[in-house]
Amino acid sequence: MKSFYLCTFYFMDIIHNIGELQRKLHSQKENGLSIGFVPTMGALHQGHISLVEKASRENDIVVVSIFVNPTQFNNPDDLQNYPRTLDADTTLLRKHKCNFVFAPDEKTIYPEPDTRIFSFGRLEEVMEGMHRPGHFTGVARVVSKLFSIVKPHKAYFGEKDFQQLAIIQNMVDQMKFDTSIVPCPIIREEDGLAMSSRNALLTPAQRNVASSIYQAMKKVEKKYNTNTINELKSYFKEAVELSPLLKVEYVEIADELTLEPIDQKLDKQHVRLFVAVHAGDVRLIDNLKINS
Ligand code: PAF
Repeated sequence: MKSFYLCTFYFMDIIHNIGELQRKLHSQKENGLSIGFVPTMGALHQGHISLVEKASRENDIVVVSIFVNPTQFNNPDDLQNYPRTLDADTTLLRKHKCNFVFAPDEKTIYPEPDTRIFSFGRLEEVMEGMHRPGHFTGVARVVSKLFSIVKPHKAYFGEKDFQQLAIIQNMVDQMKFDTSIVPCPIIREEDGLAMSSRNALLTPAQRNVASSIYQAMKKVEKKYNTNTINELKSYFKEAVELSPLLKVEYVEIADELTLEPIDQKLDKQHVRLFVAVHAGDVRLIDNLKINS
C-alpha cells in the first residue's frame, strides 16, 4: 500500500463530471485506499491548504471540490461578488497533496432545482442561521450531494465556520452518511484576521482595520472573568466600531456544545465567542474559544 501511497503524490486530475470522478474513486476504493474530502467554494488560501494537508496525512487519496454553491447565498450580490479563481486554485493545489479536484458547474450539481428543506432545530435559529435565512439548508443541500458523489471516509471543515460544522455533523447523523467529520483549527493572518476567501474582497483600508476584530475578541477573552456577558458584548461592539469602516452584525457568547447564546456566565470549558462584522459589503465571521 505504501508504494501506491507514494505514487499518489504525483498525480492531480481536474474533473468536472460526476461519472468520471466516481469511476476513478471507485477504482481507488477497490484498491483499499481511503478517501479524504475537502469541500470548498474556491478562492483557496492557507486555511484551505491546512485542511488539504490534514486530509493527506490521514488518507491515501485527497479530493477537493470547488463549487460556488448558489443555494447557500441569501444575498444575490454576495453570490455575484464571490471570488472565482479556478486556475489559481488548481495551481496552488498542485503544490499540495491533492489527487482529484472536482469542479462541477451548476447544472451538474443541480440538474433540477433542489427543493429539499433541512431542519436543524435551534442550531439554525441562532447567529448565522438567524442572520442568513435559508443559508444552512443551502449548505446541507450541496454537502449532502457532494457526500453522495464522493462517498468520503473523512471530510474536513474549518472551525471558522463553527456553526456550519455543527450543522454538517447533524446532517451526517440525520442522513446516516458513513463519513467522519474532522474539525480543523482556524488559520489566521499574522495580524490575527481569520483567513477567508472573502478577505480578498477587502479594500486596503478595510483590510487594515479588519485586524481589530481579532484584537477585540482577545480582549473579550481577557475580560471574561471580570465582566458580565452584556458588558463583554458592548465592549466588542464599541471597540470594533471605533473604525467607521466596520459595523458589527452580531456578537454572541454561546455554549459551544449547543450553540445556544448565553446571558449568564457558564463553566468556561464550553464557552465560545461568535461574531459577524461588515466591512462595507464584505461580511466577516470569526469565533474564539474563551480560555481565560
Ligand atoms: O465552507 C464552505 O466553503 C462552504 O459552505 C461549503 C462547505 C464548501 C459548502 O458550499
